[in-house]
Amino acid sequence: MDTRPIGVFDSGMGGLTVLHECLVTLPQEDYVYLGDGARLPYGPRPLDEIRRFAAEIAGYLESLGVKLVVAACNSATAAALPDLQRRLSVPVVGVLAPEAHAAVLATRNRRIGLLATEATVASGRYAELVHALDAGAEVVPVACPRLVPLIEGDDPFGEETAEAVREYAAPLREAGVDTVILGCTHYPLIRPVLQRVFGRGVTLVFSAEETAREVAELLERRGIGNGEGREGGCRFLTTGDTALFREMGRRFLQLPIASVERVELAALEAAAA
Ligand code: DGL
Repeated sequence: MDTRPIGVFDSGMGGLTVLHECLVTLPQEDYVYLGDGARLPYGPRPLDEIRRFAAEIAGYLESLGVKLVVAACNSATAAALPDLQRRLSVPVVGVLAPEAHAAVLATRNRRIGLLATEATVASGRYAELVHALDAGAEVVPVACPRLVPLIEGDDPFGEETAEAVREYAAPLREAGVDTVILGCTHYPLIRPVLQRVFGRGVTLVFSAEETAREVAELLERRGIGNGEGREGGCRFLTTGDTALFREMGRRFLQLPIASVERVELAALEAAAA
């Protein structure tokens, strides 16, 4: 039995979709969630900058004594997963591979759409992962720079979000994809909007549940799970506004968040040094 917490991080609220699935699958574990609100969004940033941020955060979480780190951010996974796995002594789980696998299993016409941040699209990682499983599958990527700021904004379920989703979905509908990878952990927060725009004929692939399954398997195989029958707790950290995080976190996670601690960027930078 290993009582150390699991570290989960994202640029903001998106990783809460992964945390939620981990809470469903592994309720006995304790979690430390870090949202990098001060530097959100990651999507428009160059990959090497995102790689630096991810190294800082993962290093910081490791210094808090976590037993495993979940990079609950597609942009950070796309930019930094191998680097994080080399740097850290604890296992690091990302969110891309489980989705690529699920998409290849789901598609019937082998045309797979991808909605993701600019950074994730630029990395080309999804196409590599899909082609490693099915070299004949086609991946049609669409970068969605407006979505994360809208989801983290004042009116995530408003007309502007619906309009942006329609705009980003249009090229995928034209390309006749039957499966769409939602390649950003923020997107499940607007899942009903996406489902209405794509309709029933298109399978939407989310990473959160698959990622939670991978975490559970890793804990089991390494023998580092916490004792069953207990209810774990969550500690929330942000580099941004703590009151805002608490409010939005409650709304998206539908979980009472008693307190949110602020982490200074200098503390993160020191952790990567
Ligand atoms: N939720 C993130 C992702 O999965 C970050 C998006 C952003 O900060 O732009 O890519």
